[in-house]
Amino acid sequence: MSMNSIAACKIIELPHIQDDRGCLSFIESCAHIPFDIARIYYLYAVPNTKVRGAHAHKNLQQLVIPISGSFDIKLDDGESKKIFHLNRPDQGLYICSMIWRDLSNFSKDAVCLVLASEKYDELDYIRLYSKFLEVQRG
Ligand code: TYD
Repeated sequence: MSMNSIAACKIIELPHIQDDRGCLSFIESCAHIPFDIARIYYLYAVPNTKVRGAHAHKNLQQLVIPISGSFDIKLDDGESKKIFHLNRPDQGLYICSMIWRDLSNFSKDAVCLVLASEKYDELDYIRLYSKFLEVQRG
């Protein structure tokens, strides 16, 4: 399995503790996800007609969690594509480096939490699809 392929991307089931007061989930660096968390950011109030993402990262890895609501993530490693519909706050999608992603179909109440392995660095982004294919195919 190649490090930068869709096969390395997967749904991670997060701990889920439920009692009559509701539910609690948690995430610890390296225990539930295969990286140290360097940054957390979140998307919200995304119009249903808009697409976010549309880029790949050279090094950064992420876990994407639909803390509220739902949305779709389309992954593309240059050879194959896969669409995930995320709608459970106790499940996250792990995305390894060098995967093109498009996020769409946000529900009105959607909050997309992202745990990232690196601090923000525009130099880590590939925002041109043709450039992504060039780098991915070596
Ligand atoms: P971008 O990565 O294009 O958003 P998305 O992939 O979710 O569609 O980022 C949008 C803007 O926000 C862009 O100007 C960069 C800025 N930004 C930061 O300043 N820090 C961050 O941690 C992130 C993720 C984005």
